Amino acid sequence: MEMMSSLMWILALLFCIVFLHVKGKGKLSNLRWNSKTSCQLPLGTLGWPFLGETIDFISCAYSDRPESFMDRRRRLYGKVFKSHIFGTPTIVSTDAEVSRFVLQSDAKAFVPFYPKSLTELMGKSSILLINGSLHRKIHGLVGSFFKSPHLKHQITRDMQSYVQQAMDKWRDDQRQPVFIQDETKTIAFQVLVKALVSLNPGEEMELLKKHFQEFISGLMSLPAKKRMVKIVQKIIQSRRNSSRSATVPRDVVDVLLKDASEVLTDDVIAGNMIDMMIPGEDSVPLLMTLAIKYLSDCPAALHQLTEENLKLKRLKAQNGEPLIWSDYLSLPFTQSVITETLRMGNIIIGVMRKSAEDIEIKGYLIPKGWCFFTYFRSVHLDENHYDRPYQFNPWRWQEKDTMSSYNFTPFGGGQRLCPGLDLARLEASIFLHHFVTSFRWVAEEDRIVNFPTVRMKKRMPVWVERRED
Ligand code: HEM
Repeated sequence: MEMMSSLMWILALLFCIVFLHVKGKGKLSNLRWNSKTSCQLPLGTLGWPFLGETIDFISCAYSDRPESFMDRRRRLYGKVFKSHIFGTPTIVSTDAEVSRFVLQSDAKAFVPFYPKSLTELMGKSSILLINGSLHRKIHGLVGSFFKSPHLKHQITRDMQSYVQQAMDKWRDDQRQPVFIQDETKTIAFQVLVKALVSLNPGEEMELLKKHFQEFISGLMSLPAKKRMVKIVQKIIQSRRNSSRSATVPRDVVDVLLKDASEVLTDDVIAGNMIDMMIPGEDSVPLLMTLAIKYLSDCPAALHQLTEENLKLKRLKAQNGEPLIWSDYLSLPFTQSVITETLRMGNIIIGVMRKSAEDIEIKGYLIPKGWCFFTYFRSVHLDENHYDRPYQFNPWRWQEKDTMSSYNFTPFGGGQRLCPGLDLARLEASIFLHHFVTSFRWVAEEDRIVNFPTVRMKKRMPVWVERRED
């Protein structure tokens, strides 16, 4: 008994030493920084030894209000605070201005930061990781290709046929609901692979999809990636061997092959094709799925969206013209629905960086080597920026030009601004158009899960009925 209580004392003492050491670290740093500059580390606590505040962060992330972790600290310490999450000391910003500054900074100040498990999946020349001139080159080439009218034209045609193929299988009398999350995943993967390497739906595409699922789930990741890289390398080889080079690039592989610089080797191109699927694969289907979820819960918005799209469909049918990409993007209310879905859905809650040197922003000191987490979700749901932020209200986007504002950054910003943003919006517009003009539906009860990624708990089941009008 006596031994037990001595042991308890020793443990308690040890715990206090470690705890005070970690808590003290922040204070010590504060002093050290104070002596060098007028700036201070943001307020906040580093939490428990080793664990930091990770447990609280994750338990909030699993709830309906992941931002409650931030809200509590925001009230105590202000919009920018320090914490210890992702296994490292972290500065969290829920301040749009500070986050914008970080996003706009170059690699001398901040470099990308991902959890180790994800970094291990990426190649060392991955667009997601690299900095400097190679990054600017790949980002620029890919971004301008995804923005080009040629790609939009081609993707619209492809997407129309993928959507049609999927919807043709939906019967009014089926005994199963349609799972929107699964359907949109299939469609968006087809579009993504077409845009990157021009594979059409078929056996090879299915194989790629299977390997990608193994890769991203963390099971057998590296062998799966190797198999995918092999498929892409075969495509690259056949392009190199072909005497007929594409005058207008048909996909991202063509765009990168066309670049004469030696840095873009076949390995760099092949690896990047897979790594670009990481941000592209899950996000677009989620955008479409969440739009259907919010519309199902907001009949007035659904009504206005349907009317707008039916009007376009009838007009085009009357004139005997096919729908082209600019038609889909011309519908203001549909665009507002997509924007509002991005604001509320927060498919990417924020982005992470690591500071490459000591940096001062708005009076805060960001020490070298710390993780910086720009948390968009708190900004997108801040009542100071958006009236009744938890209400799905696409009309708010018609009142003022908030699109360019600091307070709306679902695609990030600065040099790493998502190059797929135009593609994502176009895909969502095409899907919504065909869904609302071809079907009525009743959605089953389902809820949004926010961790580890945003998704619908039951994959968004809906019962569909083909429209007669
Ligand atoms: C709703 C859909 C999407 C959302 C919300 C989204 C969001 C984002 C965000 C926030 C970033 C910035 C990451 C950072 O700063 O570290 C990003 C980067 C990126 N996104 Fe997207 N994305 C979407 C769709 C796509 C699509 C369809 C593609 C197509 C391939 C794509 C490719 C990329 C790539 C390659 C990057 C890295 C850019 C770089 O680091 O230079 N994304 N995305």
